[in-house]
Amino acid sequence: MDRFVIHGGVPLRGEVTISGAKNAVLPIMAAALLTSEPCVIRRVPDLSDVRFMARILQSLGASVRFEGGVLAIQARQIQGHGDYELVRKMRGSICVMGPLLARLRETRVALPGGCAIGVRPVDLHLKGFRALGAELEIAGGYVRAAAPRLIGAEVFLGGRAGPTVLGTANIMMAATLAEGITIIDSAACEPEIADLAGFLNEMGARISGAGSPVITIAGVKELHGAEHEAIPDRIEAATFAIAAAATGGEITLRNARPDHFRAVLDKLREAGVTVERHGPALVVRPGPVLRPVDITTQPYAGFPTDVQAQMMALMCLAPGTSVITERIFESRFMHAAELARLGADISIEGPSAIVKGVSALSGAQMMAGDLRASAALVIAGLAARGATEILRVYHIDRGYENIDAKLRQLGARLERISEAGLGGE
Ligand code: EPZ
Repeated sequence: MDRFVIHGGVPLRGEVTISGAKNAVLPIMAAALLTSEPCVIRRVPDLSDVRFMARILQSLGASVRFEGGVLAIQARQIQGHGDYELVRKMRGSICVMGPLLARLRETRVALPGGCAIGVRPVDLHLKGFRALGAELEIAGGYVRAAAPRLIGAEVFLGGRAGPTVLGTANIMMAATLAEGITIIDSAACEPEIADLAGFLNEMGARISGAGSPVITIAGVKELHGAEHEAIPDRIEAATFAIAAAATGGEITLRNARPDHFRAVLDKLREAGVTVERHGPALVVRPGPVLRPVDITTQPYAGFPTDVQAQMMALMCLAPGTSVITERIFESRFMHAAELARLGADISIEGPSAIVKGVSALSGAQMMAGDLRASAALVIAGLAARGATEILRVYHIDRGYENIDAKLRQLGARLERISEAGLGGE
């Protein structure tokens, strides 16, 4: 398993180009199952999650080629049963269910397990499929869905923590080939949902309202192949902006979409960080002081849960007290204990973390636990004095393309130690 060794205290400086969005590409890859014609997706980040999804599509019978950031997918003949081991291992694969149900009228998919950040139920996905006329059966760790006919319906997809992103994606995709009109109420509004709808409409779907809480889909008989360029990754952009702030450096983000992470930019400005748009680029530089801020994670367009850990790492260095409340997932503070190893002062009170800024962090060994928590550890290591070692960085490789090369390009003293032969992922 690879690890990172970071010699911190170096302000990041220079330019970084933001990659395509993982959370847009994964459902768009699944959407290619809706047609037997070839689909091409551009600006695809080379991530282990993307390669994993490619293997899942291949296990379903699709042909997938991935080179130079371009994915070519053709699902000429497919079968509806994904490889249990593959589907169980990556939650995002649940979004193959909607396309398979729409294309084949029946499918059997492994129920995705929980993960480090929570139970991750799929009850809302199943509610949506039932609303469209599917019969569901859960047995042996699988969910089987069958629908001789998919009939458009109105379905409310809001759950205890608000909308569901992949649930919205799944029902929207299934509805593209249903008979009649489907209305999704309390739909997720994330930019990735709008990007998926854009791709589906390029395939001949008739979707309106994506990006708003009410999405309308008028079913069509069939969809054709399409080409699409994915939106930039707003979470990666936010992560680099926070890393610049944490190291007191000045960086330019190329290919970022500031309109996709306004809540993060607002909080960075409140914390005293300067964020300026220079044409299509975004320049992030430190202000005279770093100030503590309070954050509550919310569904889009509120502060994203996927940036909560990274912001906590920054607040460890803001003199005063910051309160960070996680409202989307039930256990997304694992990074707090790891940050404490660098000298951070964090106490957990139910859904909130109370962060008291310290004058400096000092390097230590840490263990990555989940994708975004790992990014927080990297940020802390970059800001800390001395050497930091982060184990199990495969978590990071799931969602950040070449993050070590990008950080070195910004002046970070970071190296990846590959320990091949030790079951390295
Ligand atoms: C997507 O996961 C993202 N993943 C997650 O990013 C992100 O954290 C999450 O949305 C929230 O923004 C991808 O897009 C691949 P949800 P998803 O369904 O769709 C509850 C990352 O780091 N819920 O929006 O699986 C659920 O438990 C990953 O890139 C139900 O109760 O998340 C959670 O509390 C991590 N029933 C809340 O809704 C359901 O049927 C939001 O979950 C589904 C979800």
